[in-house]
Amino acid sequence: MSQYSIAVLAGDGIGPEVMREANKVLDAVEKKFNVTLNRTAYPVGGYAIDTEGEALPSKTLLGCEQADAILFGSIGGPKWDTLPLEQRPERAALLTLRSHFDLFSNLRPARIYPGLESLSPLREDIAKSGVDVLVVRELTSGIYFGQPKGREGEGEEEFAYDTMRYSKREIRRIAIAAFEAAQKRRGKVTSVDKANVLVTSRLWREIAEEVSKDYPDVELDHIYIDNATMQIMKNPAQFDVMLCSNLFGDIVSDECAMMTGSMGLLPSASMNEEGFGLYEPAGGSAPDIAGQGIANPIAQILSAAMMLRFSMNLGDAADAIEKAVVATLEAGVLTGELLPSDKRSQAASTSQVGDEIVKQLMAQE
Ligand code: NAD
Ligand code: IPM
Ligand code: MN
Repeated sequence: MSQYSIAVLAGDGIGPEVMREANKVLDAVEKKFNVTLNRTAYPVGGYAIDTEGEALPSKTLLGCEQADAILFGSIGGPKWDTLPLEQRPERAALLTLRSHFDLFSNLRPARIYPGLESLSPLREDIAKSGVDVLVVRELTSGIYFGQPKGREGEGEEEFAYDTMRYSKREIRRIAIAAFEAAQKRRGKVTSVDKANVLVTSRLWREIAEEVSKDYPDVELDHIYIDNATMQIMKNPAQFDVMLCSNLFGDIVSDECAMMTGSMGLLPSASMNEEGFGLYEPAGGSAPDIAGQGIANPIAQILSAAMMLRFSMNLGDAADAIEKAVVATLEAGVLTGELLPSDKRSQAASTSQVGDEIVKQLMAQE
């Protein structure tokens, strides 16, 4: 029987709540697919600051290094917002993990499933136009990591700066990831930039064009970030793969998540060149709803499915989870944020959605 080890980092806010449901689904996968998914939980984020004194304790990092994959929840929250930037959970834990494992390729798939258009806030004809977008986001460079960063000066003359910086090599490898993905999809890459203003975007465009020559079967076009966010509302079906830098991909992926109905539906995979991956919902710790048992666990569960597909080569199990999720949504077992306000009283809880997904999974042939 195949065996895999997974470092489970639930984190803060809704992280532990939705991770509980992902674990239920992985338990079900073990039974149904005759695999062993050994999971070890490690502290991370604000919880780790409170219990261990730092956001990414060395035992957590070591556990991640020894695992076949990392299943990540979410981190951060108001309690830790006033810490210096470099100690905050977001930078000290999440950005450090991304950088440590060189997880440059972040895949965020957003889809409006046929029959589930009513979940989308988009107008019906737009929601029904066949929306299936993959955001390919560069995750370890750009303005998030560029040096120098800092604050200088005094009084009203004090200023702050970040550096947006991309090398050809960094752009090339994420562009290749986008073209490879497009070949397996509808054969179109839309590269998102701000080449009318930013020098980094000019280089981004140049390299995207260069890479496209190796993929004659894939169409490439370019769009400015401001227009892109507008076009996602107007005509999302025009997009197949959206190739984005770190910051633009962050923004575009939240919009794509909401286009499908909720931040709580969008999973993600962050991979390095060796194929090692960290899997996490695109959304955050949602402090506004944490502790109430109402968070949508689907993004976490679909992130676990991406892990099975990419890190464990268990495509059948991943397909089965995705099918069970769609069946759950079709059955109307929905957390509150997916319902119109006058129907919220009929909402399912986080654990009811997890239970239904397990039920649907086990009921499959
Ligand atoms: P957020 O994604 O946590 O929440 C934005 C909105 O989406 C909120 O209204 C929230 O309730 C809703 N939402 C998110 N996930 C949901 C789910 N599963 N089910 C139902 N609704 C959901 O973004 P924010 O409020 O800007 O950030 C909160 C904290 O999370 C911050 O500290 C931020 O830095 C952090 N954050 C962490 C990650 C991560 O760990 N990967 C990602 C994004 C934000
Ligand atoms: C995401 C998050 C992170 C990001 C934050 C928490 C650092 O918003 O994964 O989208 O900006 O990358
Ligand atoms: Mn984000």
